[in-house]
Amino acid sequence: MSDQKTALVVGASRGLGLGLTKALLAAGWNVIATVRPGSSLKETVESGGKLSVEHLDVNDPATISSLKQRIGTGKLDLLFVNAGVSLPDGDQIATISDSDFDYVMRSNVLGPMRVVHQLLAAVKSDAAVGVMSSDWASSDVAPNDWDAYTASKVALNYLMRSVAANNADTAVTFMCLVPGWVKTDMGGSDASLDVKTAAGGLVKTIEARRGTGGILFVDYKNDELRW
Ligand SMILES: NC(=O)c1ccc[n+]([C@@H]2O[C@H](COP(=O)([O-])OP(=O)(O)OC[C@H]3O[C@@H](n4cnc5c(N)ncnc54)[C@H](OP(=O)(O)O)[C@@H]3O)[C@@H](O)[C@H]2O)c1
Repeated sequence: MSDQKTALVVGASRGLGLGLTKALLAAGWNVIATVRPGSSLKETVESGGKLSVEHLDVNDPATISSLKQRIGTGKLDLLFVNAGVSLPDGDQIATISDSDFDYVMRSNVLGPMRVVHQLLAAVKSDAAVGVMSSDWASSDVAPNDWDAYTASKVALNYLMRSVAANNADTAVTFMCLVPGWVKTDMGGSDASLDVKTAAGGLVKTIEARRGTGGILFVDYKNDELRW
């Protein structure tokens, strides 16, 4: 029987999602990488036939159910919802507009969790299901100027704990993953890590932790964070 593993990376057009796609391919995985409808991967990725690209917008439920039908059941060893947004100038709760708050919460909480719930049937019984969290969601980290963004990652962590509790009788490992501060369009050029280091570390963490079951809040160095 083939031990070839298959991952679905949601939000892979650029930044960490593209880096995760490359790191998984380098580690021998098959990868289904999603971009938003009308978009594409921002770089050409050599994969030797191990990469396919699909279209999904986490804020468009029809694109989620359509991909769910194409993948089928029990196919994925890893479902990784990387897609996320932030507002460039911070998003303090005292001044944020309704539309900006809705945009951050829908994109970072409702959309990713819809993907997790809809595609849970697509994962194997010992798969990993990861979302991209942030160390800012840890109670060890002091509040900052990104109130709505940080609140969105705290909410995402809570909802992952909830889905993990409802699947506690399975060997699926749910992971709230922390990439560090990474040089991407979101992280900016002052960030401390390059995408290759962060994404490579996340793939190693997932490979080390997959199959243990339960729920983890863990970073790219495989260190656990306090909720
Ligand atoms: N960079 C950091 O330092 C850092 C730190 C902690 C956590 N994170 C988290 O890591 C994840 C990736 O961040 P990044 O730094 O790589 O950001 P990025 O460079 O801005 O990339 C964001 C990715 O998410 C996709 N995306 C956004 N909204 C989407 C939607 N509605 N449906 C599908 N895809 C969508 C984007 O697609 P388009 O190209 O179509 O916009 C893009 O591929 C995010 O969840 C972020 O919160 C980042």
